[in-house]
Amino acid sequence: MDTPIPNDLNSLWMPFTANRQFKAKPRLLVSAKGMYYTTNDGRELLDGTAGLWCVNAGHGRAEIIAAITAQAGEMDYAPPFQMGHPKAFELASRVAQLMPGDLDHVFFANSGSEAVDTALKIALNYHARKGDVGRRKLIGRARGYHGVGFGGISVGGISPNRKAFGGLLGEIDHLPHTHNLEKNAFSKNQPEWGAHLADALEDIVALHGAETIAAVIVEPMAGSTGVLVPPKGYLEKLRAICDKYGILLIFDEVITAFGRLGAATAAERFGVTPDIITLAKGITNAAVPMGAAVVRKHIFDTFMNGPDGIELFHGYTYSGHPLACAAGLATLDLYRDDDLFARAQGLESYWADAAHKLKALPNVIDIRTIGLVAGIELSSRSGAVGARAYDILVKCYEAGALIRVTGDIIALSPPLIIEKEQIDSLFEIVSGAIRTAN
Ligand SMILES: Cc1ncc(COP(=O)(O)O)c(C=O)c1O
Repeated sequence: MDTPIPNDLNSLWMPFTANRQFKAKPRLLVSAKGMYYTTNDGRELLDGTAGLWCVNAGHGRAEIIAAITAQAGEMDYAPPFQMGHPKAFELASRVAQLMPGDLDHVFFANSGSEAVDTALKIALNYHARKGDVGRRKLIGRARGYHGVGFGGISVGGISPNRKAFGGLLGEIDHLPHTHNLEKNAFSKNQPEWGAHLADALEDIVALHGAETIAAVIVEPMAGSTGVLVPPKGYLEKLRAICDKYGILLIFDEVITAFGRLGAATAAERFGVTPDIITLAKGITNAAVPMGAAVVRKHIFDTFMNGPDGIELFHGYTYSGHPLACAAGLATLDLYRDDDLFARAQGLESYWADAAHKLKALPNVIDIRTIGLVAGIELSSRSGAVGARAYDILVKCYEAGALIRVTGDIIALSPPLIIEKEQIDSLFEIVSGAIRTAN
């Protein structure tokens, strides 16, 4: 039987949603299993976006459900300040094992936004603790997305997310983004052109002085502004310039960690190790909210070598929540036991070929792919940026697939359990929608 639409949609103020548009024609999801959601009118929807880049192991995994259920029965909550519980320590160790280099200390938060604020605060406080008190500036990048906290929107580079909220954090600058259709359209994997764009960091250093800069934060692959894959050599250059000037490099891996690019982290995939990595989403397969900032040993040691007492004045009531830890441990077991990161890597070329077949469709101006991610960029309708892609989203929803759009870019990022036939179906539905969205 169909699940009825609630008769009053009014009270909920929906996030990042055109509320009036949505409420005039709601799209409600009522259950999920494996690769599929079910809508309130009883239709199956192939999940082309792993929810929101987060359900990497697929929906409704029995092991995760069992772990959460057992934990809820055993201990619902434990305060994380001056108290601990075993699973928080266990999950931190397990997460640290998956991180590159000596990134081996984990601070838990509840979302990507909180993970980012945590990382920025650690970076600022790290320099202050070393006596480098002038290093207060944070450098982000145009088209960067780092969540919605004041720290995240300040270093973020998406103008509608910033403009509405006033002055934001003061000591901020931005690198240019790396997207260039003329040079890099229709790239598979990392584009050839653009490593030199990292040199803009030298200009920023020259302008402000290295002694004023605490950290640079970038998404190693930018997802939210439409799948911007780093040019070959770009991240290496950023790393080298940060090293040269004692600036911390933060990779925001909220969407790239846990297999999305066929490895535990984008840092591993690209062979560039930052000083801090932010995590969220896939850490619990999204079954319970969780975020984290993971830092290199020397950063942690700087805090631990100071005077005895609370080393970092930061934390959340729900840092390392028992249900999130239980979900996280079960999720990491699944990633390991099902070898899901390698599975994503194994599917990468099939996925890329399927995506790039859409090249000849009307209005397609770029397709870019890496790991199990595809960005399909469309020309915009005159005077109506985003309208074409939104039309496509609605058409896909009606035809049985969940996709994500940003501006006029379609971003696809399915659960890592996707089968080849499901890849074919997904792109068939997307093709059909593109063809008819004139
Ligand atoms: C790179 C990145 N950082 C931070 C965030 C914010 O995460 P959350 O929505 O959990 O706060 C996101 C969300 O998509 C993200 O993609």
